Amino acid sequence: MLDVPVPVPGPDDVLVRVRYGSVNHVDTFVRSGSWSTPLAFPFVVGRDAVGTVVGAGAAARDAFADGDEVWTNSLGHDGRDGALAEYVCVPRARLYAVPVGVEPCDLAALAHPAVTAWLALADRGHLRAGQRVLVVGGGGNVGWSAVHLAGAAGATVLTTARPQDHDDLRAAGATPLATGSPLDVAVLGGPVDLVVDAAGHNDLESYLDVLRPDGRVVLLAGMAASARLPVGRLYLSGATVTGFTISRASAEELAVAARHVADAVARTGLRPRRVTVVPLDGVADAHRRLEAGEVRGKVVVALTAPSTSPRGKGTP
Ligand SMILES: NC(=O)c1ccc[n+]([C@@H]2O[C@H](COP(=O)([O-])OP(=O)(O)OC[C@H]3O[C@@H](n4cnc5c(N)ncnc54)[C@H](OP(=O)(O)O)[C@@H]3O)[C@@H](O)[C@H]2O)c1
Repeated sequence: MLDVPVPVPGPDDVLVRVRYGSVNHVDTFVRSGSWSTPLAFPFVVGRDAVGTVVGAGAAARDAFADGDEVWTNSLGHDGRDGALAEYVCVPRARLYAVPVGVEPCDLAALAHPAVTAWLALADRGHLRAGQRVLVVGGGGNVGWSAVHLAGAAGATVLTTARPQDHDDLRAAGATPLATGSPLDVAVLGGPVDLVVDAAGHNDLESYLDVLRPDGRVVLLAGMAASARLPVGRLYLSGATVTGFTISRASAEELAVAARHVADAVARTGLRPRRVTVVPLDGVADAHRRLEAGEVRGKVVVALTAPSTSPRGKGTP
């Protein structure tokens, strides 16, 4: 941990006192350099923050007031300092109001996986009500959100997951199948319109087996993975296989996704399944455990206690 000055908001920035951040796989990619993005040292790691507005630049004062409860999911890359600090500056276009009645800790846990899931389903996957979707890895953070959001969008949801996750997935309205079980149309009760692989299995041969003509496959996990692509079956079926990373989403796309996630949290009860809360000095260990594949669920980082009296603009 390092003491650094409280950041000073630029004209378009909002200064946020961070209550909760989170630890994501992508934070380990940024920290290790396995994914390269512009950053300056000393660099603060972390995508997501939930906290309270305590100041704003001149052009951001109309958008947010001191004391507003807010969240963001796109810090810590592309030249922006990260979220795991007591105070962060957030461009106002990347900051959203916390929905009423939602636990800030839950929102910190959902911010990255749920926005990822919504963009994968809706933006890359073109999901529409009445379609059938297969979520590969419904027991993970992204997969769990994808199951919920697809169901809330009116899709029929099938998902692969470990047996211990099946009851929760059934309760969320999905039909679970065991991870690694053979995928075929008879088992799935018909072809699917969309496959979202949130587990990094990237088994394109199986996905094409169960995809309807002109269906879509969204790949978003498995940084170092390679996959066999049955080219003939791909072009004969007219299917689309597309990659997706939230890191390339624009501020506008993220804002739309954030609205859908906030709506799902407030109206259709989307919540994280497993949350472990650690203090700031637990982050290095959380990165180590995430890289070793030892983390189940989401690690949330508690940064500060709730503010009882918000401080003055720019003077924390
Ligand atoms: N492209 C992007 O923008 C983006 C954004 C966010 C995350 N990601 C990537 O997406 C992947 C998933 O992220 P995540 O946060 O959802 O990871 P995660 O929670 O660790 O889940 C990953 C997978 O681990 C397995 N798993 C989950 N819970 C389990 C349990 N209780 N017991 C045993 N296995 C379990 C599941 O796969 P199986 O059951 O199939 O083994 C699950 O899909 C990561 O590779 C991450 O880097 C990509």
